[in-house]
Amino acid sequence: VKLKKFVDSLPIMETLKPNRKTKHESYYVVSMEETRQRLHRDLAPTTVWGYQGQYPGPTIDVNQGERVRIKWVNNLPSTHFLPVDKSIHDLDHLPEVRTVTHLHGANVAPESDGYPEAWYTKDYKEVGPFFKQKVYEYNNFQRGATLWYHDHAMGITRLNVYAGLAGMYIIRDHKERSLGLPEGPYEIPLIIQDRTFNRDGSLFYPEQPNNPSEDLPHPSIQPFFLGDTIVVNGKVWPFLEVEPRKYRFRILNASNTRSYQLYLDSGQSFHQIGSDGGLLAQTVKLEKIEIEPGVRVDVIVDFSDYDGDTILLKNDLGPNAAPEDETDDILQFKVTKSLSGKDHGRIPQYLSEIPTLTKNNITAIRNLKLVSTTDKWERPLLLLDHKMWNDPITEKPQLGATEIWSLINVTGFSHPIHIHLVQFQILDRRPFDLDRYNQDGQIVYTGPAKPPAPNERGWKDIVSAPSAEITRVIMKFSPYTGHYVWHCHILEHEDYDMMRPLLVVPQEK
Ligand code: C2O
Repeated sequence: VKLKKFVDSLPIMETLKPNRKTKHESYYVVSMEETRQRLHRDLAPTTVWGYQGQYPGPTIDVNQGERVRIKWVNNLPSTHFLPVDKSIHDLDHLPEVRTVTHLHGANVAPESDGYPEAWYTKDYKEVGPFFKQKVYEYNNFQRGATLWYHDHAMGITRLNVYAGLAGMYIIRDHKERSLGLPEGPYEIPLIIQDRTFNRDGSLFYPEQPNNPSEDLPHPSIQPFFLGDTIVVNGKVWPFLEVEPRKYRFRILNASNTRSYQLYLDSGQSFHQIGSDGGLLAQTVKLEKIEIEPGVRVDVIVDFSDYDGDTILLKNDLGPNAAPEDETDDILQFKVTKSLSGKDHGRIPQYLSEIPTLTKNNITAIRNLKLVSTTDKWERPLLLLDHKMWNDPITEKPQLGATEIWSLINVTGFSHPIHIHLVQFQILDRRPFDLDRYNQDGQIVYTGPAKPPAPNERGWKDIVSAPSAEITRVIMKFSPYTGHYVWHCHILEHEDYDMMRPLLVVPQEK
């Protein structure tokens, strides 16, 4: 369906109120519900799944060090409204609708991390083999950051997130508060996703590839999904009326597969102040920002010189874009509100201290390949180091260890690699000859290692690992031992089968 752009105003997700708040903790109950929501003026209400019956879910806003406990309740129907491929992960033996919530980017104990096999059904009638507790605990010791929560159930994460199970989670700290960044109504979360709609307003998700071979499972998972419509904070191509002043936008790409190259059609720059794990050391001025699935960028945009103007937040599709592709538009800013008082918001040059990990003792260096092969139906199958999810655990860092992971991407495209539990730092990327590798398996470098871009020199939990490059990250595994995961954040890849367990083991004496 063709939908008119910029006719609905941008919704701002409500901030979730705790059910109970004491000196010691904030306790929330969050219920996952099926509901119908109008996502565009001219579209019939769409069936979605939302936390608290809202798509996207309400924003959870906490202070550093605040002890938060959340009971994530599954109140969803027993059948999925999207096509579930039961040929993967033995899903034909499991209940169709299962959920488990992961707080992406958080440093949490394993029982509260949302392990994919810690899923449960409505009323906990059935639970996965790793299910341990109903109430999750978040200590929020890490620095202020834009995190997000989303479903992580084994083999159906792409469908549960596409159905709507995602929301923002903000941690605030004193140091950040003292910087005088734009706040209150001038600090706005933007959750960007792509969707495709059927005529009746329902969400479309493909059941099969375009030319399915006959014996293919039905439905059958595909290696990627790109929607033809952009949805921000749950509205199709919305507009936002702003004052001629500085705004802070916490931008999250919660799309399944799509990456964006964000820019403003006014030609003005973004001032990027934060990455996945919080503030950068210094503000970085950028005309274009790439944002891969799962990634957050925290930016300030200054509208003061644009009174009365209309500015588009655009996605650069590059020179080969199809003319009918409309995903180059994201959101419209209308600088039509009058300035309500002086703009006290600042764009500081220096933002925070980022301690370096490179001086630590390196306990292990792991060479990990990102590879593609095919399954028994000749479908693309993407893997980490040639291993399926169910293969024995190979990544077992010791508690407190600092490790370097070299991600050797021998596939034809970039993968956003996410590692649970930690925030890491990007060391460098070095190109190699992929044709040569495909011939004889040798890694022959074609250039020197490149340092990360200025806006990547902060804490990250997702790293872009481009094709034909070796991307190195460094991280310290603490303060918990136990079961976590690492995976590609293209959700179609994560589900099949680009996800591996990660087990933090006690320190050897
Ligand atoms: Cu945002 Cu393991 O995921």
